[in-house]
Amino acid sequence: MKKICIVFLLTSIFSCKKSETKEVVIIESKTVKQSEMAALMLKMYDKNLENKKLVLKGETPKDFPDEFLNIHTAQLTDPSNRNSQFNAFSDFYLYSFQKVFNAPKDSLVLKHNDAVNSCISCHETTCVGPIPRIKKLLIK
Ligand code: HEC
Repeated sequence: MKKICIVFLLTSIFSCKKSETKEVVIIESKTVKQSEMAALMLKMYDKNLENKKLVLKGETPKDFPDEFLNIHTAQLTDPSNRNSQFNAFSDFYLYSFQKVFNAPKDSLVLKHNDAVNSCISCHETTCVGPIPRIKKLLIK
């Protein structure tokens, strides 16, 4: 009788552990799903939305976020995306985006749209999904 009890106790502990590890696996796969690059992209999206609002008010955005230079190093969901073409698009984007921060008032809209179009150029070659969303950042 005692033996059966112990076996029962052991299996119930085991089954508990199993469901615990399952939960941990689910949580882990959720965090792994968003790469460093995806997180950086979402920040870039927000910053450009902020810039769009400023530019529409005729104000020049201040403080270029240095964090965006990490586009060259942030870990990608698919690391094979980072080839020489991708690096060229990254440089072109940083170059265009920096121009928004020094733009004279009469070319603010143009510089902002140039920066957003440089996002789209890279996306056309690597990751087409977010393009309709990125286009909303353009000032018509
Ligand atoms: C050099 C290429 C490149 C440039 C420039 C670029 N992107 Fe991306 N973007 C990517 C890649 C690649 C991914 C997929 C990232 C991943 O899954 O690791 C991505 C993902 C995204 C996502 C989806 C993030 C998510 O939810 O998973 C958004 C939104 C986005 N980019 C917006 C932008 C915006 C806005 C800009 C310009 C301010 C921009 N991107 C510039 C290559 C680029």
